Amino acid sequence: MKSKIDRKSFLKATALLGIGSIAFGSKAKGLFAEPMVYSVNDIKPKDGKYELPPLGYAYNALEPIIDAQTMEIHYTKHHQAYINKLNEAIDKEPSLKNKSLEELLLNLSSMPASVKSVIRNHGGGHWNHSFFWKSLKTGTNMGSSFSKLANSSFGGVEEFKSTFEKIAMGVFGSGWAWVILQNGQLKITTSANQDNPLMDAAAVPEMMPKVILGIDLWEHAYYLKHQNKRADYVKGFWNAVNWDEIEVLLK
Ligand SMILES: [Fe+2]
Repeated sequence: MKSKIDRKSFLKATALLGIGSIAFGSKAKGLFAEPMVYSVNDIKPKDGKYELPPLGYAYNALEPIIDAQTMEIHYTKHHQAYINKLNEAIDKEPSLKNKSLEELLLNLSSMPASVKSVIRNHGGGHWNHSFFWKSLKTGTNMGSSFSKLANSSFGGVEEFKSTFEKIAMGVFGSGWAWVILQNGQLKITTSANQDNPLMDAAAVPEMMPKVILGIDLWEHAYYLKHQNKRADYVKGFWNAVNWDEIEVLLK
């Protein structure tokens, strides 16, 4: 059996090569699939409890795209609430405390019925927001790895951006738009509520080998600043993306 480090390196390599992702995502019932590699690696309970991860920047760091009040409420109230509910669920199923959050989401269809919906909604919420915070920073520029992929996948950076904006604007109600890397190409997908591309049981159009970027399209992410103008938030999002982090993901 491969060591954890070897397995991760192998999975990362296969994900970047666009092979093996579906194979590792499929599983015999009752077994846990091998976890894939994401930028939010192995989120696990600490002493049996999931915890709010460090934000890494001040609440006003993303002004004016995302205002400080929204950031504080989003992080300390919304994200914390997802964590609290997730902790209540794993208290009911202590065996799950030995698994990473990625493993729970990748194996959602195998979760006990008593906690499945909580893991989907609140475990998804914890992973999505943990990933989202790391994706954000002002003052960075799109790197060469991403721009090359945008060119090969969408015919150009502006074409990629306009496609992403159109798809994000088309998400009805609460959900997320995602950029994924699959078969060596960037693709854009969406999910409702707190679903994400990791979830084998979620109604996501495409399963993904690697999550590159996501935007929170719930009104709680932008309404205080932008009210009903989701387009302002989506277009402004490009100036809040941590492009340096994305280059690291693509290495
Ligand atoms: Fe959110």
